Amino acid sequence: MTTQWTPPSQRHRSIDFTALGVPPGRYVHPDVTDFLVSPAGTQDGANRIHAYLAGQADLTTLQPAEVDFIRQHFLAASEEQRQRCITHFENRVPRRYAAARPNQIATAWAQSVVTNPDDTRSLLIVGPTGTGKTHYAYSVLRAVAETGHGAKWAAYTAADLYAQLRPRTGRDSEAEFETIVGTSVLFIDDLGAAKLTEWTEEVTYRLINHRYEQCKPSIFTSNVPPSQLRDALGERIASRLVEMCERVTLKGDDRRKGMAA
Ligand SMILES: Nc1ncnc2c1ncn2[C@@H]1O[C@H](COP(=O)(O)OP(=O)(O)OP(=O)(O)O)[C@@H](O)[C@H]1O
Ligand SMILES: [Mg+2]
Repeated sequence: MTTQWTPPSQRHRSIDFTALGVPPGRYVHPDVTDFLVSPAGTQDGANRIHAYLAGQADLTTLQPAEVDFIRQHFLAASEEQRQRCITHFENRVPRRYAAARPNQIATAWAQSVVTNPDDTRSLLIVGPTGTGKTHYAYSVLRAVAETGHGAKWAAYTAADLYAQLRPRTGRDSEAEFETIVGTSVLFIDDLGAAKLTEWTEEVTYRLINHRYEQCKPSIFTSNVPPSQLRDALGERIASRLVEMCERVTLKGDDRRKGMAA
């Protein structure tokens, strides 16, 4: 089974969050009795709010205080949802990369992923050992969480991915493969770090080809210089990566050397 992410704009057809000035999301409706006990609360207003929330009346039928009541409720709900996404990210990010914060490019990419996933090119982060590729990739995943849209993400090193997908008795590797390739935002770290065998090349090809065909946003990192990608990963994989990815090149020294005591 694949985990399909439904764009928030398709989840609440009766409420036009954009018209309310609220980021789209899947929110619980306000309790109309809360309006009654507010300073502007009237039974007529509560009835109008109720009709609007039930999709029986549009926004123009409401008084400004009633619109404001609804807007404030959904704004608070959207901030709560955003905080939940960030907490979920913080519970899953490897401790080493917990401090990684997105730059403007990462933030813009994340926005594009949640508003327009099919038209967002994947990222291929390249650079020598220790230049911060994995750190950068987690900063991008944090940016995805910070949008508050709840897009599902998953992160694997290529080596862990191969270990997880290796056929074993009692495990349905094909089902696991389907779940992994179906993730909304997939991060594969260290592509081409080890020489590919026939089997790892086939798994890598199937994975990248699936993301390529479905135009799903992914993040890849590799130590392999772009000019050697074809040799390291094979023509079919390298060709797709080049077409589907925007390249981020990290330069400089191995940061780990600077950190040594
Ligand atoms: N922008 C940054 N600010 C602060 N620390 C960073 C930054 N980028 C990377 N680091 C730190 O530098 C170290 C190396 O970074 P990272 O593991 O991301 O490198 P890498 O390019 O993925 O290396 P490798 O090729 O070996 O996988 C880590 O401890 C990481 O937390
Ligand atoms: Mg790394």
